Amino acid sequence: MLLDTYGRVATDLRVSLTDRCNLRCTYCMPEEGLQWLAKPDLLTDDEIVRLIRIATSQLGVEEVRFTGGEPLLRPGLTGIVARCGELEHRPRMSLTTNGIGLDRTAEALREAGLDRVNVSLDTLDPDTFQRMTRRKRHADVLRGLAAARAAGLTPVKVNAVLMPGLNDQEAPDLLEWALEEGYELRFIEQMPLDAQHGWQREGMITAGDILAALRERFTLTPEGEGERGSAPAERWLVDGGPARVGVIASVTRPFCRACDRTRLTADGQVRTCLFATEESDLRGALRSGADDARIAELWRKAMWGKKAGAGIDDPSFVQPQRPMSAIGG
Ligand code: GTP
Ligand code: 5AD
Ligand code: SF4
Repeated sequence: MLLDTYGRVATDLRVSLTDRCNLRCTYCMPEEGLQWLAKPDLLTDDEIVRLIRIATSQLGVEEVRFTGGEPLLRPGLTGIVARCGELEHRPRMSLTTNGIGLDRTAEALREAGLDRVNVSLDTLDPDTFQRMTRRKRHADVLRGLAAARAAGLTPVKVNAVLMPGLNDQEAPDLLEWALEEGYELRFIEQMPLDAQHGWQREGMITAGDILAALRERFTLTPEGEGERGSAPAERWLVDGGPARVGVIASVTRPFCRACDRTRLTADGQVRTCLFATEESDLRGALRSGADDARIAELWRKAMWGKKAGAGIDDPSFVQPQRPMSAIGG
């Protein structure tokens, strides 16, 4: 079990498969990209599958989320999913992606055993998309979404970050579209995890702003008590339900007390939190011949040190060295 000193148990593992990405979202990374991890520093497919096997068989992990950067850029993705699907303690498996290329891979991922996907899409307008991601790929994302739905990678969730002066007027239109298409939309508050360190509390669109904008067009009723569990998204029934909309208010309504997550970066470091400032090296242990029991022990030890919360509002808050794309959203 991955227990921490606050009594939380991590059963949800987020695995970053690459720090690279084919978009350049302004809230994430600069136009020129970042200094990517060197290939030999990345965990191999075998190492990833081994760590997931240890996590599910010895540490109580039940759910695995593959993230990036952009996880579809990892050549071995489908194989990794297939091998994890054959583990004795098979985890539930999902993918968080920008959707580019999903039209070609959704079916194979489903067959390999992937359960569902979350796709990032901040706008319905191709020009705004290009301004926000610096790439002309809006149509690819829409195709990817439709393919995921057709392949049964459901519920398909759509993540949207609202940025002032770019797409901040779009919340109700995005929701109307998601309802029509049958996607579960969630709005995410912008977090201080951008490589450029340009995040500003003052400018950000808050959960309060988003809900107020949605309520001008829809009736929102809070989802029943007890349905949230450890999910970061708070959800509302739209116009009486059953459709829902979510808000992930990491900044204004942090959910750290219920956190059930542990993370693995593409270069094999355990992170206890998105905002952790320290990491524990599993790659070194793997490559120096540590056995499964030793790896499990190192992982348990890392999680025991998990802090109470992200502490974005603490005067002592420091943004982690690694940007979101290298941590794994
Ligand atoms: P599901 O609802 O189970 O699909 O999971 P999810 O909402 O965690 O998944 P997703 O990968 O789509 O993440 C959505 C947003 O939540 C992203 O912006 C993540 O960075 C953010 N997020 C994920 N995990 C955490 C966390 O532990 N803490 C905080 N503050 N945000 C998180
Ligand atoms: N704040 C909030 N969300 C972010 N994402 C990427 N960077 C940030 C940030 N700084 C989102 C992406 C994607 C998800 C994994 O995280 O848009 O939907
Ligand atoms: Fe790529 Fe995701 Fe960062 Fe956008 S937010 S640049 S899709 S890693």
